[in-house]
Amino acid sequence: MDVYGLLGNPVAHSLSPPMHEAAYERLGVDARYVSFEPPVDAGQQAVESAATLGVAGLNVTIPFKRDVLGAVEPDDLAARIGAVNTIDLGSDPPTGHNTDATGLRRALEHHDVALAGRAVVVGAGGAGRAAAFALADEGVHVDIANRTVRKATELAAAVNESGGEAAPHPLDALGDLLANADLLVNATSVGMETDRSPVPRAALHGRLAVVDAVYTPVETRLLREAAAAGATTVDGAWMLLYQGVEAFERWTGRDAPVTAMNDALRARLD
Ligand code: ATR
Repeated sequence: MDVYGLLGNPVAHSLSPPMHEAAYERLGVDARYVSFEPPVDAGQQAVESAATLGVAGLNVTIPFKRDVLGAVEPDDLAARIGAVNTIDLGSDPPTGHNTDATGLRRALEHHDVALAGRAVVVGAGGAGRAAAFALADEGVHVDIANRTVRKATELAAAVNESGGEAAPHPLDALGDLLANADLLVNATSVGMETDRSPVPRAALHGRLAVVDAVYTPVETRLLREAAAAGATTVDGAWMLLYQGVEAFERWTGRDAPVTAMNDALRARLD
């Protein structure tokens, strides 16, 4: 039996265990997926211990996505983003990947959203970095708006350095930026457990596709207002799903049972 797991702190409410176990059950894979909650300063040590114990793969979430870079060989995308959310422990050294980025692309493809034109990413933390590189690597122009403009400036410089096209902005530029945009990604935590939106309602329009990384609630205020404006909406559960789909496929080499994984997630979300 193979053991996979999630490293995070806290992990009590994670939806990854039921999502992955639904996939194992559907395909008859002899595996288990368990949550590990090491102390917040012990991320690297936890990866090394898992490798010693023969754990096959790990997902990584808050607060360890940067810390574990020291315990793995990151692939090019994870190194540029500066964060790892999926580790393959089957090789020595373990390899680190970022399926938050590839998962966003697959969530967009699932909704027939073209990876082209101009995108606005709100947020420049870990989720914002993954979104910006994921889109820029497809040739999308990325405008990055963040409360702390310095972080948007650093991220835009890193994207431009790796061959992409990005520009930094303050949040109050969102109205102007969105007028010419095809895609909007909320990569801030605004809207999580609160009925707030990071984007002025008047800036939303029907030519936009709007993606929210927040999935608690599934229908955030941003997505509700975007739908009312006629935009295509992609909720955060799709991003959660496809980062898991990508991790499953990397670990097992098999096509993931996307519908079974999606059903397991949606049954646990409102
Ligand atoms: P994650 O890894 O989930 O991206 P993070 O690195 O803590 O988490 O980043 C959170 C993002 O949400 C940041 O872009 C943050 O803006 P700052 O860089 O200015 O901190 C943004 N954010 C959080 N709360 C916010 C708020 N109330 N208004 C605007 N942006 C907010």
